[in-house]
Amino acid sequence: MSLVLISGGTGLIGTNITQKLVKKGYQVVILTRNDRTSTNPSVSFSKWDIDNQIIDEELVATADYIIHLAGANVAEKRWSKKRKKEILGSRVKSGELLCKAILKNTNRLKAFVSASAIGWYGPDPEIPNPTPFREEMPHFNDFLGISCYQWENSLQSIERAGIRLIKLRTGIVLSKEGGAIKEFKKPIKYGFATVMGNGKQMVSWIHIDDLARLYVTALENNRFKGVYNAVAPALVNNANFIRELARQMKGKFFTEIKIPKSVLKLVLGEMSIEVLKSATVSSEKLTQEGFIFQYPTLSAALEEILN
Ligand SMILES: NC(=O)c1ccc[n+]([C@@H]2O[C@H](COP(=O)([O-])OP(=O)(O)OC[C@H]3O[C@@H](n4cnc5c(N)ncnc54)[C@H](OP(=O)(O)O)[C@@H]3O)[C@@H](O)[C@H]2O)c1
Repeated sequence: MSLVLISGGTGLIGTNITQKLVKKGYQVVILTRNDRTSTNPSVSFSKWDIDNQIIDEELVATADYIIHLAGANVAEKRWSKKRKKEILGSRVKSGELLCKAILKNTNRLKAFVSASAIGWYGPDPEIPNPTPFREEMPHFNDFLGISCYQWENSLQSIERAGIRLIKLRTGIVLSKEGGAIKEFKKPIKYGFATVMGNGKQMVSWIHIDDLARLYVTALENNRFKGVYNAVAPALVNNANFIRELARQMKGKFFTEIKIPKSVLKLVLGEMSIEVLKSATVSSEKLTQEGFIFQYPTLSAALEEILN
């Protein structure tokens, strides 16, 4: 039975991946900062301390695969100086800790799959129909772009050691368990479809089941190597996203309201970039690799999530 070690596996994405791996017969060990116990015999927890660089090195040496998801949530709190340090440090320091442990014994590890984010690319250029962002494009020079670069870069020694390294630059994950959809749904419940800014900004999204299947595919399939954009093929703009969600939740019975950019900036601070930025990201490399999306369109994804 192969062992998969998942850092940050207690979160939104890790929970779904764990379920899929267990169904396929894998043994899963989750690296967590807290004391936890499992009731599932196929899942266990191992405590690590990233700040003090403490990890169970023997456990790392027995892993067949590693999935790296750990990191302070980007959308949870305003981006104060302290929070920015935490967002970046939690990813880079945890990556470095994993690398150090892996390099002590590389005999068993077959692949390492890490989360990254489409924040790598920055905003679309302000021209009609911008070229979708592809994996070979350089990182943008803002907080998210630089953070994604340092996050991905912290793992390069794994590749140099000859281990298959895959990085999934992930878009906004749609799930019924939480994340962005939970927030978008709140005003719609009261009949208000709240479009952010002018609503023209493109949203690069992915259904959580497709993303979790992609992690498992990347882990199992030797063809997967390097960076992939983890976004669905049919992207929509923010206004159409919110309208489709409102239509599926309320039929015709909702009022559309535009929240001005200035208000969002006031309420969310620098983090407002997350909802105001247009990002058209290409999924072509994934589809060329043969990955088939179960939820390629927003309407299909929302139907599954809302039902
Ligand atoms: N969800 C999205 O829309 C999205 C989009 C793009 C990229 N991603 C990336 O995918 C990864 C997983 O996302 P997710 O949505 O599953 O995140 P999540 O629900 O916030 O879970 C992340 C996990 O990381 C651990 N963690 C939290 N703060 C930490 C800190 N300061 N230091 C170290 N570990 C910390 C936590 O595990 P413990 O408390 O058990 O330690 C947590 O369960 C993240 O790196 C995220 O940036 C997510």
